[in-house]
Amino acid sequence: MSRIIQTRCEHTHAEAGGVKVFTLRADGADTGFLDALQPGGHVAIRYPDFSGTPRQRLYSITRMNEPDLFEIAVKRTGRRGVSDYLHSTVKEGSIIPLQYAASTVTVASISNFHRVVMLAGGIGITLPIALIREFASLSRSGKHVPAVTLLLCFPRVADIPFLHELLELGLTTEWFTFRVFVTREDIQACTHFQPGRPSDHFLEALQQPDAVVICGSHTFAHQFRQRVANWFPRARLFAESFTPPTSPSEPPGAPLTSARLLLAETGLVIEADTNKNILDNLETNHISIRSQCRSGICGSCRLRIVSGNCRFEPDFCLSDGDRANGYALACCTFPKSGDVTIALHASR
Ligand code: FES
Repeated sequence: MSRIIQTRCEHTHAEAGGVKVFTLRADGADTGFLDALQPGGHVAIRYPDFSGTPRQRLYSITRMNEPDLFEIAVKRTGRRGVSDYLHSTVKEGSIIPLQYAASTVTVASISNFHRVVMLAGGIGITLPIALIREFASLSRSGKHVPAVTLLLCFPRVADIPFLHELLELGLTTEWFTFRVFVTREDIQACTHFQPGRPSDHFLEALQQPDAVVICGSHTFAHQFRQRVANWFPRARLFAESFTPPTSPSEPPGAPLTSARLLLAETGLVIEADTNKNILDNLETNHISIRSQCRSGICGSCRLRIVSGNCRFEPDFCLSDGDRANGYALACCTFPKSGDVTIALHASR
């Protein structure tokens, strides 16, 4: 079991759209942990939700202020989960336990590309803002940075966090281009703002990037992954999402279904909520299973469906061969009905 790092909240401030920025200090953390703290990386927080159940959730590091002082941005969702509980309880001086820090997409991983397109949806902006701030700092000190185009999709203009910072950067630098696509508000198109989502026509007009970073909800990342592969077939694709797939909706009037999860290794049986994925069902029943992103990207919650009826949401890491052999991701798989037998310690 990894050591828990206790961080102390030194400052909080509110951003637009129900987003709060927490500045945390990792007092006394060892060098290995501090080295893992990177702008654009993420930290795994272990914190209760409103029911009092401790849960692990990942948040992007939006800025490093000092080697042990960093910021995360957390959006209130109204679902009474960990993010909402952080909003309600964390103040200056509060202690927040971290399980680990890690990085998937960092400045180092994309700075050697010439042209980078970032596609962000909603709170997925937290990764691009971290990278763009770092590039701005490098550029100010005369270093080479890639040409970055940020395409941000957001429901309403007034809810966009970090908007003024991004607009100012877009207006004052050569290397950064910023466009906002407003999905749920009737707006007049202008230089920086357009209604709707990025159209095929708009994307075809962009210069071919050599790297594309997609960040947003599971649905957003999945929808854009295929389109990006068609538009920019030669680009290296990076995806990050910490928002789980939404539960599949039943057609109106569909009969209620019940399901049970049977654990092949132990014979344990639990009643399953068919609106929750297998990962949530296991955690609700205090059965531990590895997980990180909760969004089908990292692959750490891989298991095997031995038998039973499930719904599978798209993921980003299993091959067709894996699926044919019964492998699945607990965060992307929903028990559908009847008995579902799963093997948690699934080897390849
Ligand atoms: S937790 Fe990352 S793929 Fe399921």
